[in-house]
Amino acid sequence: MASVSTLPRRAAGVRPPGSRLPRAAQVVLWVRWPTQFMASCQRRFGDIFTVNLPVDGPIVNLAHPDLIKTVFTGDSDVLHAGEANAILEPVLGRHSVLLLDGQEHLRQRRLMLPPFHGERMQGYAGIMETVTRETVAGWPRNRVFALRRSMQAITLEVIIRAVFGVDVSDEVTALRDLITDMLAVANSPLMLLPWLRHELGGHSPWGRFVQRNARVNEAIYALIAARRRDPRLAERSDILALLLQARDEQGNQLSDVELRDELMTLLLAGHETTATSLAWCFDLLLHHPDALRRLEHELERGETAWLDAVIRETMRVRPVILAVARRLTAPFEIAGYHLPPGTVVAPNIWLTHHRDDIYPDPDAFRPERFLEQAPEPYGWLPFGGGIRRCLGASFAIFEMRTVIPTVLRQVRLRPASPELERVRREAVTFVPARGTRVIATNR
Ligand code: HEM
Repeated sequence: MASVSTLPRRAAGVRPPGSRLPRAAQVVLWVRWPTQFMASCQRRFGDIFTVNLPVDGPIVNLAHPDLIKTVFTGDSDVLHAGEANAILEPVLGRHSVLLLDGQEHLRQRRLMLPPFHGERMQGYAGIMETVTRETVAGWPRNRVFALRRSMQAITLEVIIRAVFGVDVSDEVTALRDLITDMLAVANSPLMLLPWLRHELGGHSPWGRFVQRNARVNEAIYALIAARRRDPRLAERSDILALLLQARDEQGNQLSDVELRDELMTLLLAGHETTATSLAWCFDLLLHHPDALRRLEHELERGETAWLDAVIRETMRVRPVILAVARRLTAPFEIAGYHLPPGTVVAPNIWLTHHRDDIYPDPDAFRPERFLEQAPEPYGWLPFGGGIRRCLGASFAIFEMRTVIPTVLRQVRLRPASPELERVRREAVTFVPARGTRVIATNR
């Protein structure tokens, strides 16, 4: 791989090069044609370049594993992820682990880790299988439908049952409907622009979002209060019960507001991303019949090496999140540049995953890349990295390993179109433009 470590030192204040287009034009390209825009910047300016956006200011993109390692292993007091994620605050709340930095972030992260340890995953297998089987049974047969929406229904139901327990009450069912309703308005890329956030009595997209968010909050607070009163709390194994009993080093518990923000974070961070990855996985498999046949064959024989390779390759070639971000609280040197505080540095997942020196023929779907070789630590980063690496990574991979075989055992799928889907931005995730349209037939 080409090295970037020998770059010359530059004078303070010199920013990595980038497009000279006005910021308004850059934001349009960033929102509308993100992968093409980023790839053209990398071609023109190299593995470190600046994009200028009206909301975040200059974003320094990094597209080389050595540069990304510098950020993921750098001082987390200088590289603030929480601040860089501030745009998510209206939905997740300011106590969300995604929005915190420093000691507060470490405290919340430690409190939240236990339910996501690898060894707990087996406990979620039953929920994942049942929900998938029930959902697939309801799919139409012999006519086109969008798989991603259905994957969203599966992953939302799974995370809801994992968080609130399998004894799903009417209140939990109502919460699921409220969240679906809220996401329908929250997912417009326009929601990312603070200056469009006017309520207009509930008639603007922002106003509709605020109303729905308030209903979701009410439902979550009611569930927290009920669970706190549950005399059998200590016997329960759902995530809410574990979080209610968790204590930090000083013996303090999470407050109700903190709990609401963390539950919301788990529900939202935990389902759309996984559903989208599943939708991409099926899109890629259905357009690569040899890979699909091999998967079916190996699963029949109880082997999972190809399944794991398929999942890794899906997350490489179609990462759901294209970049992660850290805002600098102090001057920071990288690749010879001295970046001032306030700058956002962004390990660029998409560009790194499409480097031809790590992944020859990078646009091709080739699971065999990962059959004999584990992913390179800073060259495969669908879950970000460092102390901010996705808390639900094991959960997500376990869910994909469970849902894909469960679907394939029940139905035969074929793509509705001979073309792979295009990548489209939806708020912060990158989704198949037409939702992975498929046709299912009985096995
Ligand atoms: C395919 C599915 C998923 C993808 C692609 C994904 C991706 C990511 C990424 C890129 C980050 C930011 C990491 C960084 O800044 O370096 C993140 C953070 C996070 N994710 Fe996920 N995620 C997925 C599933 C999940 C699930 C299932 C959960 C929980 C149930 C979850 C909970 C979180 C949380 C709590 C954080 C914040 C971690 C922190 O700031 O310390 N994610 N995820």
